[in-house]
Amino acid sequence: MNITFIGAGNVAWHLAPALENAGHQVNEVVSRQLSHARQLVSLLYDARPRTNLNLTDSPSELFVLTVPDDALPDVCSRLVLPENAIVVHTSGSRSLDDLNGWMQVYSDVPARTGVFYPLQTFSRSQNPLDFEGIPICIEAADPDTEAKLVTLGQEISSIVYLVNSAERRILHLSAVFACNFTNHLLAVAQNLTEAHDLEFDLLKPLIRETFRKALLAPNPADVQTGPARRGDQKTINTHLQMLADQPRLMEIYEVMTESIRGKRGR
Ligand SMILES: NC(=O)c1ccc[n+]([C@@H]2O[C@H](COP(=O)([O-])OP(=O)(O)OC[C@H]3O[C@@H](n4cnc5c(N)ncnc54)[C@H](OP(=O)(O)O)[C@@H]3O)[C@@H](O)[C@H]2O)c1
Repeated sequence: MNITFIGAGNVAWHLAPALENAGHQVNEVVSRQLSHARQLVSLLYDARPRTNLNLTDSPSELFVLTVPDDALPDVCSRLVLPENAIVVHTSGSRSLDDLNGWMQVYSDVPARTGVFYPLQTFSRSQNPLDFEGIPICIEAADPDTEAKLVTLGQEISSIVYLVNSAERRILHLSAVFACNFTNHLLAVAQNLTEAHDLEFDLLKPLIRETFRKALLAPNPADVQTGPARRGDQKTINTHLQMLADQPRLMEIYEVMTESIRGKRGR
């Protein structure tokens, strides 16, 4: 398949090489800043970097929108596609109806629409990830587009699901807790250790064991430990005193403690 990426950030950085490795041709990478498109193009076989969203001359059939969720309406309003294009976004939270609506309002030619949501965390400038074990959540507005996207997904991953917009939103919300908030808490831990000249590395075996146990348990709540789980109120009070000059962290500590006490993350 001939493919164009619109957006040269975290997701495009990993997905574009994965699709090329599966035998597809990425023709163009469009980004606001040409230098960002060029950086991604340097990982690809024969793609052209560009900034212009007028893609009427594009040889591509598939246009993958990999820009931030909030930029999608504006990008769609400026996108000019060739006839018979399939346009997909990769967002967990934006619905297929949103994309359909923008394309109907803004596109002069009818476009086939879909969603190609890889359920993973991607960071630009890391080595491109192998998609084999990354779940790909597909949704499409018509059966032919759905079949094409499922085939494309199966060429890079062994975990391809049809997931509707409401289900995808729940997956995304869960992913924010499982990934984004967890990562933020690790960054908080690093800041606390480094502020007191202690090595963050000392916490790494603990972090690894936490994830190992949580992934093996029927429910991560079953292997919860710590003062909140044990009800060690004196320890909790000491920790809150230690955070007295950091009210935001104190708030997070209190909210998390209450949530653990309420059990099972409810
Ligand atoms: N990151 C993840 O882990 C992840 C995982 C799954 C799904 N997703 C979804 O994938 C999509 C892309 O996420 P991402 O993390 O790859 O995004 P990102 O790295 O922030 O995207 C950066 C790209 O979007 C362009 N861009 C940024 N703001 C823009 C705007 N207002 N108008 C036009 N272009 C703009 C940037 O242009 P310049 O830099 O050239 O200015 C750059 O090419 C989102 O829908 C996100 O929800 C992300």
